[in-house]
Parts: sequence; C-alpha cells; structure tokens
Amino acid sequence: MTVDPVCQNTEGLDRHSLDVPGPASPVRVVLASSVAVVALAVSWLVYSAKPSRPLSAADRAGRLLTVDRPFPVEGRFAGDPYVGPKVCAECHPGEAALHSRSGHALTLWPAGRRLVSRRLDGTTIADPESPGVSWSYRYRDGHLYIERRAPNQVEECIADYAFGSGRHATTFVSVIDAEIPAILEHRLTFFAQEGTLALTPGQDVRPPPPRLTPNGHVPPPPVARKCFDCHSTQLSAGGHQRIDEAMMIPNVSCERCHGPGRAHVAAARQADSNAQLALPLGPGRWTSAELVRFCGECHRHPDGPRPARIRRGDTMLARFQPIGLSLSRCYGRSEGRLSCVTCHDPHARPSSNRAEYDTICLNCHGGRDGSLELPPNPLLPRVVCSVSPRDRCVDCHMPRVAVDPGQHVRFSDHWIRIHRSEEPSP
Ligand code: HEC
Ligand code: HEC
Ligand code: HEC
Ligand code: HEC
Ligand code: HEC
Ligand code: HEC
Ligand code: HEC
Repeated sequence: MTVDPVCQNTEGLDRHSLDVPGPASPVRVVLASSVAVVALAVSWLVYSAKPSRPLSAADRAGRLLTVDRPFPVEGRFAGDPYVGPKVCAECHPGEAALHSRSGHALTLWPAGRRLVSRRLDGTTIADPESPGVSWSYRYRDGHLYIERRAPNQVEECIADYAFGSGRHATTFVSVIDAEIPAILEHRLTFFAQEGTLALTPGQDVRPPPPRLTPNGHVPPPPVARKCFDCHSTQLSAGGHQRIDEAMMIPNVSCERCHGPGRAHVAAARQADSNAQLALPLGPGRWTSAELVRFCGECHRHPDGPRPARIRRGDTMLARFQPIGLSLSRCYGRSEGRLSCVTCHDPHARPSSNRAEYDTICLNCHGGRDGSLELPPNPLLPRVVCSVSPRDRCVDCHMPRVAVDPGQHVRFSDHWIRIHRSEEPSP
C-alpha cells in the first residue's frame, strides 16, 4: 500500500484534490476525501478529481537533507556561511552541553525519529469531540502512520515532522506541498505531562479557526512557513518562500541566535590574536530592548498583537513572555537593566526551581532595613514587598497560567505585577 504524505483514503472511496491558494500558481494536492472538508472548504477551495503522485519512503528520506543526517562538513553548498550545530561544541563545550538538552535544540524532528512515535504504536483512541470517529497510531519502518476512522471512511497519513521538544507537547505535521507551502497540523497533540493525546492547541477554540479539516488544521502559506521558521535555524538557503526540506537547518541552534559561524570558526582556528571573532550576537553588546525584541521574533514581541487586544485578564498573553515583560514596570522603569537573560541562561532550560528567581528579584527589590544580605543596587529605586519581602516572589507576581481551553499548557505570566483578587483568577 502506498500512502501519501497527506491523509489518503485507504478503502477505495472517492478522493478529492484541492487547490491551496498560494503565492505561486496554485498546485493541486490531495488533502482529504472527507465530506466535511468539502463543506468547510467550498468558499476558498476548488475541487477537482486529479489524483496525487504518491511519495515513496525513499523520496521522503531524500528530501530531508540536514534534518535527518549530519550537517555536511564542507557546507550544504559552496560558500555556505553556516557550519551546522555540532562544530561550536569543539571550543564552547559549556554552552553546547547546556544547549543540547534545551528545548531549542530539540524542537523539530522527523516524526519517525521521536520516541513518542514508537510509544504511540498500537494506540487507538476516540476523537475527543466527534462521535463515531477514532484515531489509530502505527509505527512501521521508521514512519508514524496516523489513521482516522469515521463511519464511512478511513484515511491514513504519514506524519512527517514532530514539533516540540516533548517536555510539554508534541504536535505532528505533514507537508502537503513544500512549494506553496501547505502543511497539515494534525488534529491531536501528545501531551507529556498527562501522557495523552488531545486536541492540538489552537484547534480547540470556539469558533474553530478557518481551514480546519477533520484531520487537522491547514494554515495559510505564510503561517505554514513561519511555523517551520520559528522552530528552525534556517528555513531555506536561497531565501525561498517554500519549506526547503533539503537545505533546512532544523531547531534553534547556535547559529540562529549568533549568526552564521563559518568565518568565526575559521578565524578561531587560525589562532591569530588579531582575528576578528565577534559575531552579530555576542555577550553584553545588545541592549535589553534589542534582546527582548530578538527573543520575541519567536516568543512574540509587543509589535505583534495590536495594543487594543492586550487586556489584563487575557491568559493567552502569558504565552508571549516578551510582550508580558515589556508591560511590566520592572522592565519599563529599570532603565535597560532587565532582559530575558537577566533571569535565563539563553543556552539552558529555564530553572524550574522557583526559589532561584528570588535572588534576582531581590537584586532590585532588596529591603532597606539592612536585614537582607544582598547589596542594594544604588541605581534603582528600591521598592520592597510589604507582603513577602524575602521569598516566593514569582508565585505571586509571575503565577503559572493555563493558556489553552484544554488546560494542558501552562506558562508563567511574565507581566510582573500585583495580581488583584478582582481579576479573573488564572
Ligand atoms: C528562532 C525562534 C526562537 C528564538 C529566536 C528564541 N526562541 Fe526560545 N524557544 C523557541 C521554541 C520553538 C521553543 C520551544 C522549544 C521546545 O520545543 O520545547 C523555545 C523555548 C524556549 C524556552 C523554554 C525552554 C524549555 O525547555 O521549556 C526558553 C526559556 C526560551 N525559549 C528562551 C529564549 C530566549 C531567552 C531567547 C532570546 C535570547 C529565545 N528563547 C529566542 C524559539 C525561539
Ligand atoms: C512565531 C513563532 C512560532 C510559530 C509561527 C510557531 N511556533 Fe511553536 N513555538 C514557538 C515558541 C517560542 C515556543 C515555546 C513557547 C511556547 O510553547 O509557546 C513554541 C512551542 C511549540 C510547541 C510546544 C513545545 C513544548 O513541548 O513546550 C509545539 C508542539 C509547537 N510550538 C508547534 C508548532 C507548530 C505545529 C506550529 C505551526 C503550525 C508552530 N509551533 C508555530 C514559536 C512558534
Ligand atoms: C536562543 C538564542 C541562543 C542560542 C540558541 C545560543 N546562544 Fe549563545 N548566547 C545567546 C545570548 C543572548 C548571549 C549573550 C548573553 C549575555 O549577554 O549575557 C549568548 C552568549 C554566548 C557566548 C558568550 C558567553 C560569555 O559570556 O562570554 C558564547 C560563547 C555562546 N553564546 C555560544 C553559543 C553556542 C556554542 C551555542 C550553541 C551550542 C549558542 N551560544 C546558542 C543566545 C543564544
Ligand atoms: C576553533 C574554536 C572555536 C569554534 C569552533 C567556535 N568558536 Fe566561538 N569563540 C572562539 C574564541 C577563541 C572566542 C573568543 C574568546 C571567547 O570569548 O571565548 C570565541 C567567541 C565566541 C563568542 C563571543 C563573540 C563575541 O562577539 O563577543 C560567541 C557568541 C561564540 N564564540 C559563538 C560560537 C558559535 C555559535 C560557534 C559555532 C558556529 C563557535 N563560536 C565556534 C573559538 C571558537
Ligand atoms: C532590574 C531590576 C528589577 C528586577 C530584576 C525586578 N524588578 Fe520589579 N521593579 C523594578 C522597578 C524599577 C520597578 C518600578 C518601581 C517603581 O514603580 O518605582 C518594579 C516594580 C515591581 C512591582 C510593582 C509593579 C506594579 O505594577 O506596581 C512588582 C510587583 C515587582 N517589581 C516584582 C518583581 C519580581 C517578583 C521580580 C523577580 C521575578 C522583580 N520585580 C524583578 C525593577 C526590577
Ligand atoms: C524576572 C525574571 C524573568 C525574566 C526577565 C524573564 N523570565 Fe522567563 N521565566 C521566569 C520564570 C520564573 C519562569 C518559570 C520557571 C518555572 O517555573 O519553571 C520563566 C519561564 C519561561 C519560559 C518557559 C515557559 C513558561 O512561561 O513557563 C519561557 C519560554 C521564558 N521564560 C521565556 C522568557 C523570555 C523570552 C524572556 C524575555 C522576554 C523572559 N523569559 C524573561 C522568569 C523570567
Ligand atoms: C503571597 C503573595 C506575595 C509574595 C510571595 C510576594 N509578593 Fe510582592 N506583593 C504582593 C501584593 C499583594 C502586593 C501589593 C501590596 C499592596 O499594595 O499593599 C505586593 C507588592 C509588591 C511590590 C510593589 C511594592 C510597592 O510599594 O509598590 C513589589 C516591588 C513586590 N511586591 C515585590 C516582591 C518580591 C521581590 C517578592 C519576593 C521577595 C514578593 N513581592 C513576594 C504579594 C506578594
């Protein structure tokens, strides 16, 4: 049985192809045969009956150059300014060791390579919302197959990618057409804490997002591209609009933040004391505003959603730490002394020991009565907490908030403030 990269009818029922509007001329792709898709999609899709070209497992492996194989030592092409994620470890073992265990380093994988795909083998569960619909997961020959079984229809997809380091959530994505690009973000996501499959955040909202199909969400091309862009170091070598699976450097590696490193490595190897070793992003050179904005390229920054949409009670805000932090008086009034790296080592997983953050708060909020040991910072107004002057700062001022209707995902609210009881409690 050949199976498309995208959900394919496995029981000989009618199939439909559909046009996905994109910047290039519309390309026909088979997406699904569901009647529900037809009903949902009439407004924006044109249906025809052109069959798709099945993609073999070998084709599939061939297109995943740097995702599934070591980065070529000589570069991906002549003059490649990137050296890939492994080379930096040779001279910066500390950063590399921390980074290799962080979410940044593990956030985009071929689905078949994830342990969770093997764990899901043999799982069958009922759809959380649609009666009579069930989902089955099979792991075969290094691929994860996801089957949707409805009363009159069975469809099966190969999951191409697994998004998320897996600490909180793993979302499967199939590439429908890398040129447009069009992707299917699968309907069910695996949540590590509960060890269960549930609706993918964003697909569980009311009203449902446009372009929702029974198999999952098909985001518009710019969103599909951004989805890969935020989870990778370089999406495409040629500045293409497509998802360039042969050239893509997956995961947020050293060179995503510091910039391409080939010239830096060459200079360091020459051991010339005058060698130019500075990289675009180095320690201490960026202002806190620049850093917050930089992290916000992916974690979202204040120029993202319109200010009118920012409300105190909006729990979604907690997901966007740079926006939250920017709204804080700590940030606004500390004259450039507070940024993401004040509290986080950008190479490491954030500490989950919430007491560790007290020290950082007390650097600026130490007591005036001399009973607190930390040296006061003479440059800052010292505003002390009247409720709890020494500890548990983040429990009250940066509480954890559930941001999705399913309550699967919790974030620490980075809008550091006094939480009044009349606000909707998180
Ligand atoms: C290219 C996009 C991108 C940039 C730039 C970026 N991040 Fe991230 N960050 C991510 C993604 C994607 C994840 C989710 C990783 C995962 O799957 O767990 C993440 C996760 C994190 C986490 C949580 C890690 C965990 O293990 O829970 C922290 C903390 C973090 N980023 C801090 C930063 C800081 C600080 C900066 C700026 C110096 C930054 N990030 C810049 C994309 C980015
Ligand atoms: C604007 C950048 C951006 C886009 C677009 C984006 N992500 Fe993320 N994603 C992040 C960041 C930053 C995090 C870490 C913080 C968080 O969970 O929100 C993350 C976290 C995740 C996680 C959870 C990882 C974990 O275990 O904590 C999953 C799964 C995920 N993204 C999947 C996707 C998928 C699938 C798409 C596209 C349909 C997508 N993301 C689009 C930036 C982005
Ligand atoms: C999410 C973005 C991000 C990633 C990924 C990242 N770094 Fe960094 N790195 C930073 C930031 C921001 C600083 C500056 C921190 C500061 O100003 O205190 C930094 C600082 C450094 C420094 C200087 C340390 C010092 O204090 O002298 C080195 C060396 C470094 N990074 C190497 C690496 C290596 C090697 C990797 C990959 C294994 C890597 N970085 C991945 C953001 C990142
Ligand atoms: C052959 C050794 C070598 C390799 C490989 C190497 N570096 Fe460096 N790097 C150095 C030396 C030497 C310095 C300057 C001294 C220092 O800060 O440790 C430096 C400094 C840095 C700094 C601070 C730069 C600044 O602007 O102040 C960063 C960031 C950094 N390296 C990141 C990287 C990244 C990312 C990679 C991989 C792409 C990498 N390095 C690979 C030797 C190396
Ligand atoms: C770099 C210094 C700095 C750090 C670190 C810092 N703050 Fe602040 N914070 C300030 C300044 C400055 C103000 C504004 C004081 C004023 O209004 O004059 C402030 C204000 C506050 C307020 C009052 C906010 C409001 O809206 O009224 C709270 C609460 C607060 N900080 C809690 C914290 C907590 C908790 C931490 C640690 C997680 C922390 N701060 C870390 C500098 C800092
Ligand atoms: C004043 C300290 C502080 C600053 C500044 C700060 N964070 Fe955090 N961050 C925390 C705390 C506390 C946690 C929760 C850790 C835990 O409980 O596991 C956290 C957690 C996170 C997480 C994990 C998901 C979550 O929300 O729990 C991400 C991602 C993150 N921070 C990103 C950022 C980014 C990006 C910036 C810069 C805009 C930033 N942080 C600035 C204190 C800070
Ligand atoms: C039990 C919850 C709780 C804890 C723990 C807590 N705070 Fe507070 N904090 C509050 C409340 C409530 C207020 C408002 C008090 C008021 O207005 O009378 C406040 C006020 C503040 C203010 C503003 C004071 C002013 O005069 O404007 C700062 C700054 C602050 N806290 C910092 C901290 C720091 C730093 C820590 C940890 C050492 C901390 N808080 C721990 C609940 C808490």
